[in-house]
Amino acid sequence: MWVLVSSKSPVIRGEKVRQKVGLIRTLTDEVINNLAAGEVVERPASVLKELVENSLDAGATEIEVAIFAGGTQSIRVSDNGKGMSPEDAVHCFGRHATSKIQGVEDLTHLRSLGFRGEALAAIAAVSEINLKTREAEKDVGTEVDLSGGDIQSVAEAGVPVGTRLEVKNLFFNTPARKKFLKKEQTEAKWLEVSLKALALAAPHANFRFVQDGKPKWQMTADPDWLSNESGPDPERVAACLGTQVRSHLLSFSGQTEALNVSGFLVSPEVTRRDTQGIRLMVNGRWVSDRVLSQTIKTAYGPYLEPGRYPMCVLHLRLPDEHVDYNVHPQKSEVRISNRREVQAHLIRLITVFLVTKKPQVLLGTKNHPVNYALKGTPHTSAETQSGLSARDWFPGVSAEPSEPVFPPITPVTDPLQSSASDEVFHNRFTFVKTESDLWVLDVNSFLRHEVKDKIAAQIRSGAVGKQRLLFPLQFDAPALGGHSFESIEKVLEVFGFEISNFDGEKWMLKSLPSLLAEDNARDVFESALGVVLENVLFGKEAMTEKYLERVAEIFEPYWERPQLQDIKRRALQLRHHPDSDGFIRPADVDFFKEIFGGR
Ligand SMILES: Nc1ncnc2c1ncn2[C@@H]1O[C@H](COP(=O)(O)OP(=O)(O)OP(=O)(O)O)[C@@H](O)[C@H]1O
Ligand SMILES: [Mg+2]
Repeated sequence: MWVLVSSKSPVIRGEKVRQKVGLIRTLTDEVINNLAAGEVVERPASVLKELVENSLDAGATEIEVAIFAGGTQSIRVSDNGKGMSPEDAVHCFGRHATSKIQGVEDLTHLRSLGFRGEALAAIAAVSEINLKTREAEKDVGTEVDLSGGDIQSVAEAGVPVGTRLEVKNLFFNTPARKKFLKKEQTEAKWLEVSLKALALAAPHANFRFVQDGKPKWQMTADPDWLSNESGPDPERVAACLGTQVRSHLLSFSGQTEALNVSGFLVSPEVTRRDTQGIRLMVNGRWVSDRVLSQTIKTAYGPYLEPGRYPMCVLHLRLPDEHVDYNVHPQKSEVRISNRREVQAHLIRLITVFLVTKKPQVLLGTKNHPVNYALKGTPHTSAETQSGLSARDWFPGVSAEPSEPVFPPITPVTDPLQSSASDEVFHNRFTFVKTESDLWVLDVNSFLRHEVKDKIAAQIRSGAVGKQRLLFPLQFDAPALGGHSFESIEKVLEVFGFEISNFDGEKWMLKSLPSLLAEDNARDVFESALGVVLENVLFGKEAMTEKYLERVAEIFEPYWERPQLQDIKRRALQLRHHPDSDGFIRPADVDFFKEIFGGR
């Protein structure tokens, strides 16, 4: 029996444990320096992801997740994996302690989801932990308790084969981080969504989810899913994406020299306002890859209404030598060396598939763009049907709904005549008809005006709506032209971007203005940073003006367009605004009379 009490966990840091025989080794500095560094534990959902990925790496086929109070009180993951020896049960909490890789060369052909030996150390540092684990060939297991990273006790324990790790009181010793947590309900939803995404990545395992003591759902394993023609079980896909997709799932697979892909495409009748219905697995790893998501949107191209994204669950298999997993602190992104080739192949496979399967729902083509408001189309919104809002769907964005670009308008009498044409011509103009007048509206100029107005008001009142990214984005630090990081950081914060500088060479983007969808964060941030760096010399007022001059152009490609009817109502309200001649003008009926002649 081990009896080991420590206030500063010398067992973890000292040589005593490292020299014991176990599978876990502490990585060398050479390997450590090659790992993507950064914040591992942001919120309960990120803890869950690390624990479940550990269970999968341990070969588990049964995984039960039990959470209390949105994971803030407790997140417990139990598995039937291979368990840990008594030595490893202690050593696993050391920094850079891993059984999964040894040398830098192992990073190029990873077979496991984890590899940095960082997750448990990071989680242990900000919580209280109880670990019970037993290896199959042992009669007895080990129980370890830690608090704030310090070992409290280690003892033999009669436990089943496998591992049960409970994380309690997350952030109990870091109140500043605890403050960033959302309501328990919201954290619980994010935990559930993350678990479902992990379940999609591992169809060979049974998953059970228990919330506040009540079993909520379970998903049955499909051990042979890889050899199934149709890929993963459609029931699991529907359970994860929302039951409304069940009758719209199109089993899809394809192979080219660059990739092998299988899974389900959701027929374009069901779409979302964001990319969160796109679930992608690269070589078995759930990733949130912005570029691949955009690629899939491109492939669906003509089937989609503007501002809508498709839904799918796709397992991509790529040769190991083309994929680098070591690019993001939470391992949620990958770098694909032949990305362009993979994109091109993916687009071709999906396009050909959709054209063959669904020619009848083709809505428009590049030359005949889809109208903004498609009356009577069978399209459904995945958000409205599931009862989840876009922001609820994925833990990456704040649960507090970002302020809509338009305040809700409920005029007593609607001045807009319902017979007004909903055509947008030249991809830009539309008619707006009131009882007495006809107007021409330049939709694009109007939207630019609105967004600029909105952002200007937020900046001037010092209250830019911000949303935190679940997975902060990592950037190479740009050249600052002699300015300090702090001065740039301050300006960016006023504009709604929160950054940190974690090792002098890398920056992390932690929040972005709430008007934007998270998946565009990198592009928007880079553009905004460009404006700031060009103008930082000019002082706060002038700098803000410069930023506002460019803000519409920066945000334009990314904001969500409201319905055309709402645009028209709002434009009508503003038709006497001093700037309104930039976007809405009366149609000159006298002029028409003149050119057409007659009475
Ligand atoms: N559920 C589990 N079953 C068996 N062994 C586990 C389990 N969880 C963790 N371990 C062991 O503990 C080690 C440390 O886990 P940790 O998650 O900190 O690092 P990792 O998975 O190796 O890398 P990463 O930081 O990228 O997740 C693992 O390498 C593994 O040997
Ligand atoms: Mg791990």
